[in-house]
Amino acid sequence: MKLLVVTDPHIVEPGGEIIDLDPSARLAGVLDHAMAHQGDADHLVILGDLTHHGRVEQYRELERILGRVTGPMTLMLGNHDVRNGFHAVFGGAGFVQEVVDLGTHRLICLDTLDEEAEPLHSGVLCDARLNWLQARLGESDLPVILALHHPCFKTGFNGMDRIRLRNEDALIQIIRDSGKVVQLLCGHVHRTISGVAHGLPFAVFKSPCHQMPMMLGAPGSSHSVDEPGAYGIVLTGPDGVVVHSVDIGLKAEATVDGHSA
Ligand SMILES: [Fe+2]
Repeated sequence: MKLLVVTDPHIVEPGGEIIDLDPSARLAGVLDHAMAHQGDADHLVILGDLTHHGRVEQYRELERILGRVTGPMTLMLGNHDVRNGFHAVFGGAGFVQEVVDLGTHRLICLDTLDEEAEPLHSGVLCDARLNWLQARLGESDLPVILALHHPCFKTGFNGMDRIRLRNEDALIQIIRDSGKVVQLLCGHVHRTISGVAHGLPFAVFKSPCHQMPMMLGAPGSSHSVDEPGAYGIVLTGPDGVVVHSVDIGLKAEATVDGHSA
């Protein structure tokens, strides 16, 4: 099956900007590209930081932009979101967590938002959320792709590493005990990153909008640069999981037959 992954759109009010970029236009561009070129996708997930400030008007703007998406979709929360603002527009209450059937795999989406985080913008999975995960992991023997906004590992960007998931040890213990998680999907860093952490393959994706400059070791957590927006494509099947990243708005997007890779 094919899962589209978008993260960190950081929608602001209509007409607003982040480093001179229009988050609404950027997200619309990514979604239009995905709908045009990946129209056979089975599901779309947005890994949090849906909005920049969590204001109701920003979620309304997000809802408007998402109107172009055909097919099922899961929205997750990140450190820039506000639960009440999200629920005011999209309904529901409490933590925003969900399980998605991906045929050979299950996608489990976690809510790592801590609205009283210290340090600010770091994430956490409280006992209630960890218990929920444990219960979901016990429901099925299918391999699991775990999606969470805050990485539960370091990426080499020091400022972002300081505001990753705070209680990663508790999460990793549950993952190890289950033996079912085969892939982690994260946002938060605004950069395309892959590797193995705690013995688990992970993929981190760029935002549609502003990106983390390639400044490894950077002490801050709010560096931003105008690079092409991107989204991910995750393919699942009996052979396992394949993760792609697609950059948007590059000069030469068209491919020409007859050129081998
Ligand atoms: Fe973000």
